[in-house]
Amino acid sequence: MSTSFQNIKGTFDILPDAYTDDGGTRVAASAEWRHVEATVRDVMRRHNFEEIRTPVLEPTELVARGVGESTDIVQKEMFAFERSDTQYVLRPEITAPVVRSFLQHHLDQRGGVQKLFYIGPCFRAEQPQKGRYRQFHQFGIEVLGADQPRADAETIAVLMAVCEALGLSDLRLRLNTLGTPERREEYVAALQDYLAPHADELSETSRRRLEQNPLRILDTKVEHEQALLRDAPTLIDFVSDESLAHYDEVKGLLGDLGVEYDEDPHLVRGLDYYTETTFELEHPGLGAQSALAGGGRYDRLAEVLGSDDPVPAVGFAAGMERLFLALDAAEADRPGAATPDVFIAALGDEAEAWCFRTAQELRAGGLHVAHDLMGRSLKAQMKEANRQNASYAMIIGGNELEAGAATVKEMESGEQEDVPFDDLVEYLKEHVAAKR
Ligand code: HAM
Repeated sequence: MSTSFQNIKGTFDILPDAYTDDGGTRVAASAEWRHVEATVRDVMRRHNFEEIRTPVLEPTELVARGVGESTDIVQKEMFAFERSDTQYVLRPEITAPVVRSFLQHHLDQRGGVQKLFYIGPCFRAEQPQKGRYRQFHQFGIEVLGADQPRADAETIAVLMAVCEALGLSDLRLRLNTLGTPERREEYVAALQDYLAPHADELSETSRRRLEQNPLRILDTKVEHEQALLRDAPTLIDFVSDESLAHYDEVKGLLGDLGVEYDEDPHLVRGLDYYTETTFELEHPGLGAQSALAGGGRYDRLAEVLGSDDPVPAVGFAAGMERLFLALDAAEADRPGAATPDVFIAALGDEAEAWCFRTAQELRAGGLHVAHDLMGRSLKAQMKEANRQNASYAMIIGGNELEAGAATVKEMESGEQEDVPFDDLVEYLKEHVAAKR
């Protein structure tokens, strides 16, 4: 079969079976996605986080202001469009939308710190490559209304707990502090002064950044720029004592929790809203797109989005596609697709009608039941039971209907037993439970 349509470049289908896409990347099966999502939900429950779901469509202005006009995301990567005088954007990230929702619905009035988590798709018009998509999926948390270092440490601990629950090791946590925006401005001026005489040596991207977003030059991958930066002023020298004390406490708490980290004074992140602590989590299995997750504090974002009051906050987001790449590289265990407990093969109209009714009964009893919908031959039905890897099969024909009992076959051993119709639900429930 064929169609002239293809999924859009940089997007992908999640199918019942895993497959390899055109770029040679393995796309995990839907059961693997469910497993990761269920693990995330379980870790969130244990850490007392509540779920928030915000729309995929947001006002463009929210992202432009929230993420920052000079960022790559806003300059180059937004899927934005206009319709009847309204500017829409497919959300490129979920922090600004969560803060919008928090402010709009006065979630502060629920009392205490709001600990929220999310799982969902995001959109960025990036050049697709391994680990980089145009529609990708994030899970993340936002802790709103907490200015204490404890909130920063807990945010990182939740991220590490998800990775641990999934069986990921070999992770590298990079940590930095950006201090306050005021001190950062002083630093940016110093950095510009230092780099200006070297402007000719900079790549085109860095030259543009020198004007628009000089901090981003710090995470250049260009070797001679990295060398140039070795003698540049460092941000940490401009950070206030108060910010340093906050940062020290975060580091102390991470030490208490046994979370290892590398301090990286060049870690600046690609979104403008960060203040104080920032971090990124890397895994060696990811290659060029090494960041599995990133986050930090964003104490001023609420005000940028129009709040009269400050809302100190911290959070992270992880890319689920990159998580799968890391899981593949680590050969971490993942469940296979669920297989039927029982396949009912029916022969003849009467048996098929019985099969339909009985399937319903068995399903009401919690069993995973498969049967044929096409009235195919017995041989074809048994082949299908095998293909679907059913634990049990039963064959129902005229004789069985007359006897009021089904022959139930355990597929692995081939052992068979005659079970009266009235006992079927209990029999199968018991045997299936014993096998699990
Ligand atoms: P981000 O670093 O832009 O941060 O994205 C977080 C993660 O999303 C990345 O580490 C990466 O795993 C994944 N990701 C980003 N872009 C792509 C892409 N094109 N394809 C595949 N995966 C991608 C944020 O989004 C912030 N909102 C994080 C945050 C939450 N900060 C505070 N709270």
